[in-house]
Amino acid sequence: MLVKLEEIEKDFTTRIEALAKEADLLNLKSEFLGKAGKLSEVLKGLRNCSPEERKVIGPKANAIKDLIQTQIHKKIEALEIDIINKKLNENAIDLGLRKGRFSSSLSGGGLHPRTLIQREIEDVFLSMGFEVLDGPHIEDDVHNFEALNIPADHPARDMQDTFWFNDPSASDGKGNLLRTHTSTIQVRGMKERKPPFRFIAPGTVFRCERTDASHEFVFNQLEGMMVGKDISISNLIYFMKTLLKEIFKKDVEVRLRPGFFPFVEPGFELDISCLICSGKGCSVCKQTGWVELLPCGMVHPNVLVAGGIDPAEYNGFAFGLGLDRLVMMKYGIDDIRHLNSGDLRFNEQFKSY
Ligand code: DAH
Repeated sequence: MLVKLEEIEKDFTTRIEALAKEADLLNLKSEFLGKAGKLSEVLKGLRNCSPEERKVIGPKANAIKDLIQTQIHKKIEALEIDIINKKLNENAIDLGLRKGRFSSSLSGGGLHPRTLIQREIEDVFLSMGFEVLDGPHIEDDVHNFEALNIPADHPARDMQDTFWFNDPSASDGKGNLLRTHTSTIQVRGMKERKPPFRFIAPGTVFRCERTDASHEFVFNQLEGMMVGKDISISNLIYFMKTLLKEIFKKDVEVRLRPGFFPFVEPGFELDISCLICSGKGCSVCKQTGWVELLPCGMVHPNVLVAGGIDPAEYNGFAFGLGLDRLVMMKYGIDDIRHLNSGDLRFNEQFKSY
């Protein structure tokens, strides 16, 4: 039997050499180790051996079994590695390549102009002791309207065409909404802190509106709020002027006129002279020569109350900067729709800023 075992071992080692496919290797394995396999047949014969013979033949048979198993396993593993390496070589991209099929159109990335301006504004306000806050896009009626002094059925709700989510269980069928302005973060900011405080909050807002050169239904604002004791309109004007000067790096012509927003009293519209047409009139400024950029005002007492603040003790100002419009003015972009176009040729132009 020992001779038989040696023959089996020899047979296996020569046969495995010639194989290079996983399926063939598995077949070979079962030919030797399967139920009716060559080695199993020998092991069956152990029954008829003397105990002394078994002591020698048993361990030898087991050693051959181990050998077959490990050799098959090793060879299959090597085959798999070969296949992976082949695939990697076929799809290789030479990252060091400077010119050629893949690399000629690749150039360094750049930041979106809105990101550039947003970072600049955040730096200006951080240096003046403001925090930078964030808030959710999906909001409820309370944060978007109620707490901002816009109760149900208030005509001011029509100023902002709203994307509502359906809620069949609500009496009017309306559930949550996509925030129409970043003023929602005023409410969250007030509730989470005690005066005095000051913060800004940049973010995307949504309105169910038709688009044109100066309107998008997804656009960006930057909210600001400062609450403390004896805050005045002069404080508001100071911060607005500092902001504009830092952004435009030059004095821009501004005008302040009364504006109505339920959450401020008094409320203002701060316009800047249109930098696209130098105030002559164009599609961006709707031929008026002025662009509404910074609505603002003194926080309405009802809003302070909704935020858990006593209006007898504290007051404050708030503003809601049109971030996309500011980007357009700063870089001379004549259509807001370029900003969300995703066209890399547009973004590339701001790389050097
Ligand atoms: N939330 C207003 C809008 O989107 C803009 C605004 C106006 C924000 C006056 C303010 C403010 O904080 O004081 O139309």
